[in-house]
Amino acid sequence: MEKILIRGGKPLYGTIEIDGMKNAALPIVFATLLVPGKCHIDNLPAVRDIALSLQILETLGAKVEMTGPNSVEIDATNAIATLPPAELTRKMRASYYLLGAGLGRFGSAIVGYPGGCDFGKRPIDQHVKGFEALGATVDESSDGLLTAKVGEQGLRSGNIFFDVVSVGATLNVMMAAVTAPGQTIIENAAREPHIVDLANFLNTCGARISGAGTDTIKIKGVSELHGCTYAIIPDMIEAGTYMVAVAAASGQVKINNVIPKHLESVTAKLEEMGVSVEELDDAVVVTRTEPLQRCNIKTLPYPGFPTDMQPQFCALFCLAEGVCHLTEGVWDNRFRYVDELRRLGADIEVNGKTATVNGGAPLRGTSVRAVDLRGGAAMVIAGLAAEGETIVEDIHLIARGYDNLEGKLSAVGADICRVVYPDPIIKMN
Ligand code: EPZ
Repeated sequence: MEKILIRGGKPLYGTIEIDGMKNAALPIVFATLLVPGKCHIDNLPAVRDIALSLQILETLGAKVEMTGPNSVEIDATNAIATLPPAELTRKMRASYYLLGAGLGRFGSAIVGYPGGCDFGKRPIDQHVKGFEALGATVDESSDGLLTAKVGEQGLRSGNIFFDVVSVGATLNVMMAAVTAPGQTIIENAAREPHIVDLANFLNTCGARISGAGTDTIKIKGVSELHGCTYAIIPDMIEAGTYMVAVAAASGQVKINNVIPKHLESVTAKLEEMGVSVEELDDAVVVTRTEPLQRCNIKTLPYPGFPTDMQPQFCALFCLAEGVCHLTEGVWDNRFRYVDELRRLGADIEVNGKTATVNGGAPLRGTSVRAVDLRGGAAMVIAGLAAEGETIVEDIHLIARGYDNLEGKLSAVGADICRVVYPDPIIKMN
């Protein structure tokens, strides 16, 4: 049983390098299925969800070769539309990108219902709506298998107006539409940087996508894609997490390999709390010397404040004197981690989609769990500021989206390490 052990109270000084963005890399890795040729992808983050996606592609017959610690060559020329093992696909949400990529390449796809973090309801009705507008049908069997297929006439272009702004549905429908004859228009599309990154990757492979990054995306179908070389954008959520870590622990850290524009909403909130953020070309320098000021946050789709930074800021709010309100505007229930923060002494009330944090009382180290990926990052951040020892359990959830979190923090002065505890001995009578 691996856990993270933190002895809080150490300020952070130095430099942290940010990896490629998990949530951009996932759709791009699955989109290589659309390409009968070799795709060389750089700046791939070495996180568990990416390793799983590569394994899933291999089960479909794609050739996957790691050409460096953060580079992979994927050749899906001989891939086929077949059911990947459920024990792989149910471990992550992103396995549903097989539906869009499979429809675009083979006209059919089958995959088990995807897993991922538990934030309450996670419907896929908008994905289905988009696929149907392209002439496909999607069925869910009683044992949870999703089957998408088109008739003999193949996919057609379509006009889709999403009822809710969905990152996954926008990416999935883009993948399906790249080879659909005619022009597909997606309206009320998500605008996240990873939408732009997938469009750029697909365009490098010969697709004709315009408008990514706005709420209207136009896709002119092409007959076939070709291989390419592509580098994933930096991970704004990984960068944001370390920015908050510095704010929590105090000190000064330069965070390299970022796109400062992607971090604007996080930067604005840190500055409101009295933390200095200096923007350089591809780095930010975060400095915290003063006590933290209170502020409020509401999460929204991009360019609003990212929901994937909500738990980390909740941990930070615990350290600011006064009352902070944190309203979740994307997910039904993303406050499961709050009980764990309370174990550290945090005073937080949750009412529906708003958490009210009465900050300022010291946090005291104890044993806590990562209930999901970003909730786990929040526990580490709280542990950096807490008095005494904090032990974070279930850290495999953190490894889904952060490579070497404890190594990167320890290199800037945190007293943090991964420890292996023996499994508890169960006494039999
Ligand atoms: C992506 O999830 C990310 N995951 C999530 O990050 C992130 O929290 C989320 O986008 C929002 O930014 C990946 O990229 C793998 P959505 P996704 O479809 O695509 C509703 C992390 O920590 N909705 O944009 O699944 C849905 O219920 C992870 O890295 C429908 O109603 O999110 C939610 O309220 C966790 N119908 C809202 O839209 C649908 O068909 C946004 O969901 C689809 C979504």
